[in-house]
Amino acid sequence: MSTQVQPPESKLKTSSNNVGTPIAPPAVVRKQQRAPRSRMDLVVLWLAVFLLALLVLVGVIDSAPLQSAQNSSAAASSGSSSSSSQTTTKAASKAAVPAHKTYNPQIPLVLQGNTVNISLTITEQLVAIADGVAYHAWTFDGTVPGPILHVRQGQLVHTTIINHGNMGHSIDFHAAQTPWNVNYQEIPVGKSLTFTWRADYPGVFMYHCGTPTVIDHMANGMYGTIIVDPAKAWAPAKEYVLVQSEFYTAQNSDGTYSLDPNKVLNGQPDYVVFNGYANQYKAAPLTAKAGEHIRLYVLNAGPSQFSAFHVIGALISNAYMDGNPANRTQGNQTVMIAPGGGSIIDLVIPAAGLYPFVTHSFADASKGAMGVIKVTP
Ligand code: CU
Ligand code: CU
Repeated sequence: MSTQVQPPESKLKTSSNNVGTPIAPPAVVRKQQRAPRSRMDLVVLWLAVFLLALLVLVGVIDSAPLQSAQNSSAAASSGSSSSSSQTTTKAASKAAVPAHKTYNPQIPLVLQGNTVNISLTITEQLVAIADGVAYHAWTFDGTVPGPILHVRQGQLVHTTIINHGNMGHSIDFHAAQTPWNVNYQEIPVGKSLTFTWRADYPGVFMYHCGTPTVIDHMANGMYGTIIVDPAKAWAPAKEYVLVQSEFYTAQNSDGTYSLDPNKVLNGQPDYVVFNGYANQYKAAPLTAKAGEHIRLYVLNAGPSQFSAFHVIGALISNAYMDGNPANRTQGNQTVMIAPGGGSIIDLVIPAAGLYPFVTHSFADASKGAMGVIKVTP
């Protein structure tokens, strides 16, 4: 122990000698006098080193997965953008991150009647997409994803879209057959668009903004799910909606984040999430009873990553591509869901416990596309 202490002690002495002590006491006396002070200095020094190491370690552990994703993406983009993202990192602590409310994955009751009304209002606003990450999103009704819409096969859907944003936006319902050049065209700021379509096919469908540059409008959060129940209703089950999607971020000077156009075109997301927020159903698991029929309506809003939907510890008894009862496959381990596609996933989990759900594209699961089903007896 004393051998460890001595080298720095002698270094300290040397440096103090260099500064120069005009009247140097005899060597032996100096050694006796200085020893306690040097030990104090050393204690302080070691404490400082220890604290510094602790701070660095905590910082590294805290930000390791996402930071490495961001760094690798930054490295791929231009030098100037990576240096600007480094200089703005400190500003993140100043930015006000909107409070995150867990996205409600439960399906609202199906609308009744032969003709039903749905309305969506477009806004551009700051939303939280991960712990401490505020993102300038473009939304339907203020959330990412937008609200879950629920109609029945055969219904006429009278649709109104209101643009309260600061730029032109539009709508595209994958559940509809309607002329793109009429009903999917840009809605100017402050205007609205109304049209009616028939829900001909049952399923789990995407709706999204289709205004150029389309990938930017989708990557900024302009998507949601519309569920069309089959004319002959599904059997009762514990039902949840999960929308997988990606965020491609660049930090602003105030610490908030906006879309990184290079990352989005290169397919390099920083976050891949279910229902708009990284890992939110790890903190607030979906719940079911052992032996209960669970039905997951899974939509992949992309804009670019394929989903390999998988539940750890369970098998998928039935999967219905795009949620159509005719598209049934059985006993699946992993279900592929294309960007812009959906699937209904049926599960019956026999034993109580925790069952994580992920995209088995594990780079994406590591970026936040992971949640948990908590099964109780
Ligand atoms: Cu838009
Ligand atoms: Cu589309």
